[in-house]
Amino acid sequence: MSSILSTCINLLLLLSSAYAFNHPGLLVSEADITRIQNKLSAHADPWQASWDKLVSLDNSQSTYVNHAVAGVYRNTANGVKANAELLWHDAAAAFNLALRWKIERNATYAEAASNILGAWGRKLKEFDVGDDEYLTAGLQGYQLVNAAELLRDHAPFESSGNATAFSTMFEKTFLYKNLFFLNHKAPSEHNVRHFFANWELCNMASAMAFGIYTDNATLFDFAVEYFKTGEGNGAVNNGISNLVSEPGTGTIMGQPQEAGRDQGHTGLDFQLFGVVAQQAWNQGKDLYGYNSSRVLLGAEYYARYNLGNDVPFEPYTNGIVSYTTVSPASRGAHRPTWELLYAHYVQIKGLEAPWTELYKNYTTKAMGGFEGGAGSWGEGSGHYDGLGWGSLLHHLDVGDVDAVSSNSSASNSATLSTPSTTSSNKSLVAQTSAYVTTSVPASATTSVLPRSSKSSQKSTVSASTTLQSVLEAKPLPTRVSHMCTRS
Ligand SMILES: *[C@@H]1O[C@H](CO)[C@@H](O)[C@H](O)[C@H]1NC(C)=O
Ligand SMILES: *[C@@H]1O[C@H](CO)[C@@H](O)[C@H](O)[C@H]1NC(C)=O
Ligand SMILES: *[C@@H]1O[C@H](CO)[C@@H](O)[C@H](O)[C@H]1NC(C)=O
Ligand SMILES: *[C@@H]1O[C@H](CO)[C@@H](O)[C@H](O)[C@H]1NC(C)=O
Ligand SMILES: *[C@@H]1O[C@H](CO)[C@@H](O)[C@H](O)[C@H]1NC(C)=O
Ligand SMILES: *[C@@H]1O[C@H](CO)[C@@H](O)[C@H](O)[C@H]1NC(C)=O
Ligand SMILES: *[C@@H]1O[C@H](CO)[C@@H](O)[C@H](O)[C@H]1NC(C)=O
Repeated sequence: MSSILSTCINLLLLLSSAYAFNHPGLLVSEADITRIQNKLSAHADPWQASWDKLVSLDNSQSTYVNHAVAGVYRNTANGVKANAELLWHDAAAAFNLALRWKIERNATYAEAASNILGAWGRKLKEFDVGDDEYLTAGLQGYQLVNAAELLRDHAPFESSGNATAFSTMFEKTFLYKNLFFLNHKAPSEHNVRHFFANWELCNMASAMAFGIYTDNATLFDFAVEYFKTGEGNGAVNNGISNLVSEPGTGTIMGQPQEAGRDQGHTGLDFQLFGVVAQQAWNQGKDLYGYNSSRVLLGAEYYARYNLGNDVPFEPYTNGIVSYTTVSPASRGAHRPTWELLYAHYVQIKGLEAPWTELYKNYTTKAMGGFEGGAGSWGEGSGHYDGLGWGSLLHHLDVGDVDAVSSNSSASNSATLSTPSTTSSNKSLVAQTSAYVTTSVPASATTSVLPRSSKSSQKSTVSASTTLQSVLEAKPLPTRVSHMCTRS
């Protein structure tokens, strides 16, 4: 009797303490907010320049009026006109305003963000008929939840009914689609490798975000497990599909699943790997380091190639498309991603990631000195696939590293594994000084020009135009979608 009782008590304790989620604990942690506040008090760049840009945007004002509608469509089809930019803009606004609330502690901004999320909570019912609904469900899904997560300490979000309206809608629409898709229930998923990596990554990011936001360990674990062992291309060993040797050094690099397709989408994969890994990291789960830091192996390959250097390529096929060579399409495109990857791998982990560092420098330079955020660096879907603001949220001075490392290690969640801080582990990317001086271009900007004059013409198109046109290529009709691959 007493042993049964104590077993029951132990079980209850186990269940109730299994996960104590950190909040805010998606892309932004409390330690991040504290650091940003300190940097802004000192008017230090790149934080100050990023912040000045953020607060100047229309979508960062308390007077911002939401565009909530019942249906969000990325494509004009079946008599309805594409309107997805309404949600892209509002998701970015909700995040920017929620960030202003956290950083400035002015409730006016929290109310504005709360009203945006509440309005969508009351109105949204459906997405595109056809596969593109999963892009909206994934990309805007994780973005909206990232905004909601920053409002958890604004009591009226809950008491006004906005939080509930948002969550109820999210579960029925976004999350339902995220799980349907990741469980390979869509007809086009008769081949589980049908969809390129970015499709699954954004759906993983969304399901994981909602799991953390609602303290749902089942959902969080599902996304973590999918990242590690999922069957589709979002799982890291498929998303970075081959291990190859870097010319000249023999260093292992990861060939990304979309590398034979184009560089715009491959860059999106690293943007989304960053989201998934950072959200997990803020809960004490180290997906960045999973399987010899596979994400970094891929980032190094991507950055090396996109800075104008050669990479090896192993033939890739998923049974639908086949590639025998890396694609120069949209080579050198930039996205706000690299501040995060650099800060994590080089500064927090102490690993060497020379190409990632150069790509961070190239990207920040191309974007005007700091990584912009949604709404600040251009229009079109590609500019709204990520929330951005890496130079504000993730850039670290040397002196900031310890605080971030210790505060992000899930201090209040005893049963979550602590990130393995391999601060002194430099073995991942074996590097010699000869490698740096011979292979690293003198200037990242000039080196993005590919070698052949044919592809050089492509690369002189502005990176953002290229990115946008690539991502907005019209998809094929739904009925033949199982025979082709898209976004
Ligand atoms: C880290 O966490 C501690 C305790 O939660 C807090 O007092 C401290 O301000 C945090 N440090 C930073 C840099 O946010
Ligand atoms: C809070 O923000 C609003 C909107 O920008 C502004 O009018 C108000 O003065 C701010 N309040 C404080 C205390 O700064
Ligand atoms: C959201 O909050 C506002 C007040 O900030 C309120 O007017 C509105 O009714 C709330 N929405 C819901 C669904 O309760
Ligand atoms: C967690 O999420 C899953 C998937 O949506 C759901 O079935 C389950 O009921 C949720 N658990 C809790 C405790 O809300
Ligand atoms: C790590 O990657 C290798 C090579 O792709 C693979 O064989 C192995 O199963 C992966 N291990 C884990 C734990 O994912
Ligand atoms: C260093 O990293 C390698 C590759 O990820 C790993 O196998 C090794 O165990 C790590 N060593 C230490 C001391 O963390
Ligand atoms: C990247 O930029 C920083 C800041 O300007 C600079 O200190 C660093 O040397 C650059 N890294 C490389 C590899 O050029």
